[in-house]
Amino acid sequence: MRNISSFFRSVVKALAFITVFSLGVTTFAQAQDVKAGEALFKANCTTCHKLNARLVGPALAGVNDRHDAEWLHKWIKNSQAMVQAGDEKAVALFNEYKSVMTPFPTLKDDDITNILAYIKAEGDKKPDAAAGGAGGATGAAAANDNVSSFMLVGLIVVIALAFLVIVVLNRVIRTLEKVILKNKDLKVDDEEEDGKPGKDYAGRLKKLAKNKKLVFFAVLMVGGLLTSLGWKDLWNVGVHTNYQPVQPIKFSHQLHAGVNQIECQYCHSGAFKSKNASIPSANICMNCHKGVTGSEQYGGETSPEIAKIYRALDWDPKTQAYGNNPKPIEWVRIHNLPDFAYFNHSQHVSVAGVKCQTCHGPVETMETVYQYSPLTMKWCVNCHQVTEVNHKDNAYYDQLIAAHDKLKKGEKVTAAMLGGLECGKCHY
Ligand code: HEC
Ligand code: HEC
Ligand code: HEC
Ligand code: HEC
Ligand code: HEC
Ligand code: HEC
Repeated sequence: MRNISSFFRSVVKALAFITVFSLGVTTFAQAQDVKAGEALFKANCTTCHKLNARLVGPALAGVNDRHDAEWLHKWIKNSQAMVQAGDEKAVALFNEYKSVMTPFPTLKDDDITNILAYIKAEGDKKPDAAAGGAGGATGAAAANDNVSSFMLVGLIVVIALAFLVIVVLNRVIRTLEKVILKNKDLKVDDEEEDGKPGKDYAGRLKKLAKNKKLVFFAVLMVGGLLTSLGWKDLWNVGVHTNYQPVQPIKFSHQLHAGVNQIECQYCHSGAFKSKNASIPSANICMNCHKGVTGSEQYGGETSPEIAKIYRALDWDPKTQAYGNNPKPIEWVRIHNLPDFAYFNHSQHVSVAGVKCQTCHGPVETMETVYQYSPLTMKWCVNCHQVTEVNHKDNAYYDQLIAAHDKLKKGEKVTAAMLGGLECGKCHY
């Protein structure tokens, strides 16, 4: 008797273990796909696409339902080839948007599958998050939070299923044991024998609470859940995504970079040629605001916000003359890496050709700028892992390739060939 019972118990254990394990593995694998897809999407697609709003191209939420996978793979690799080949859907899309989508011949099939998985996971979730300024802030937060909450939901589902499996299998064991005992004409040790089976729920709960294995399992799961929540929180210490301080002047990027289409470069020229993007001095504002006083809205008076620029420069709009008591405008810094991390804008903007928006989000729609990316090391490293280097017309990479060719031919490579004679390598 005991033998049969313990045999069933071990089968139950094995089954429960396999269920938990396989569910765990599949949710983990899916999370990985979505995560890789998110990084690729942000690096390659966000300049032209949002999930739930039209940008340069259409909103991509639900695109998996609009086209089949094969079509999407072909389209993303080279949309114009499909347009030229006369594919009906492709031609219709192109005629609607009249803008050429960048071809991505270097994306592998797996990459595209991951991007589509990300679009599906995220697009199904938040139909309203991507709209406009403040909405954009939540959208960015959702994107960053997406993977961990996805895994959390997966974990809870796994726990619930495992619990169910255990309860069901426990019942199966009992029934089988009963059948065996009956066959042997032995007394059945079960209160459910006399009369109504399964009505005494309180009694059953008490019995469940006495089941040590079950209690241990529950405690383990709750403990695991709390630990993973705490772990997640700990990782977010010092991460300031969505940080949006109030600035001394209500300067709107949406108005300047969005509506008036002033290039980022006009005010942040440093981003293209140096480490720091730099914040423009008030003199740059005066290129326009000597004349633009925002007067229409203020009945001929100078806008109080623009008056702050005049005050900072000690400029008198009546006499059109500068005084000699200027004070700097104390903008509140939003993005701030710790001192031990080195980040260079020109390397990313000029050399790698990364768009400002890839890292800073849709600044041109922000009334007040907020921190869009987490600026964690993981964030830097994830992008470095998926972004291909643009080595064309780049003397540094030409040198590397030349050195590589020499090594292949068995020739010598000197430190000088790798740039060891450049003044900057030894002198600050
Ligand atoms: C330079 C801008 C640009 C970039 C970058 C871009 N797209 Fe597009 N995309 C478009 C435009 C514009 C269209 C509309 C069709 C057209 O005009 O060719 C489009 C259409 C699409 C469609 C069809 C949508 C529909 O509703 O049927 C998909 C899918 C798509 N893009 C995916 C991507 C993915 C994935 C990436 C990143 C790997 C990406 N796009 C990057 C501009 C872009
Ligand atoms: C007319 C001048 C002007 C233009 C054009 C402009 N900016 Fe700015 N930018 C500023 C000023 C002033 C600040 C500081 C005040 C603030 O944070 O709003 C700033 C702040 C920022 C910050 C936050 C800096 C920090 O403190 O960490 C980012 C990021 C930024 N700009 C990106 C952009 C991008 C991207 C564009 C182009 C789409 C752009 N800016 C266009 C003037 C400009
Ligand atoms: C290339 C021209 C240009 C530059 C440079 C520029 N602005 Fe403006 N700014 C404008 C225009 C155009 C408006 C819209 C005026 C209107 O709506 O009447 C405006 C509006 C504003 C307003 C809103 C005024 C109000 O109350 O309606 C503020 C505040 C402002 N700018 C601050 C700044 C600051 C600070 C800088 C420097 C960092 C700056 N601007 C640089 C062109 C410029
Ligand atoms: C690869 C990601 C990346 C790209 C692309 C990028 N930035 Fe930044 N930006 C950062 C990081 C990281 C910081 C914080 C730097 C620090 O604290 O040292 C930052 C800081 C800034 C600041 C605050 C002042 C400063 O110089 O530190 C401004 C303004 C800014 N960026 C504007 C821009 C503009 C404009 C562009 C496009 C021309 C751009 N950024 C492109 C990552 C990026
Ligand atoms: C959007 C993608 C992206 C993000 C985010 C990003 N980088 Fe980069 N980074 C690149 C690319 C692409 C290159 C290669 C540029 C080149 O060809 O030299 C690069 C190059 C670099 C280099 C030079 C490496 C070398 O071999 O000389 C440093 C240093 C660097 N990044 C630091 C950072 C730091 C620090 C962060 C985070 C704060 C960061 N990057 C975030 C894309 C990114
Ligand atoms: C491989 C490393 C290296 C490279 C490359 C290099 N230097 Fe130097 N340089 C040094 C060292 C080390 C010294 C200090 C020698 C001393 O004090 O005797 C020095 C000294 C100097 C001095 C003298 C400074 C003084 O105060 O006496 C000048 C000027 C100078 N370098 C300019 C250059 C220029 C210009 C280049 C680029 C063409 C260059 N260096 C490339 C290593 C280098």
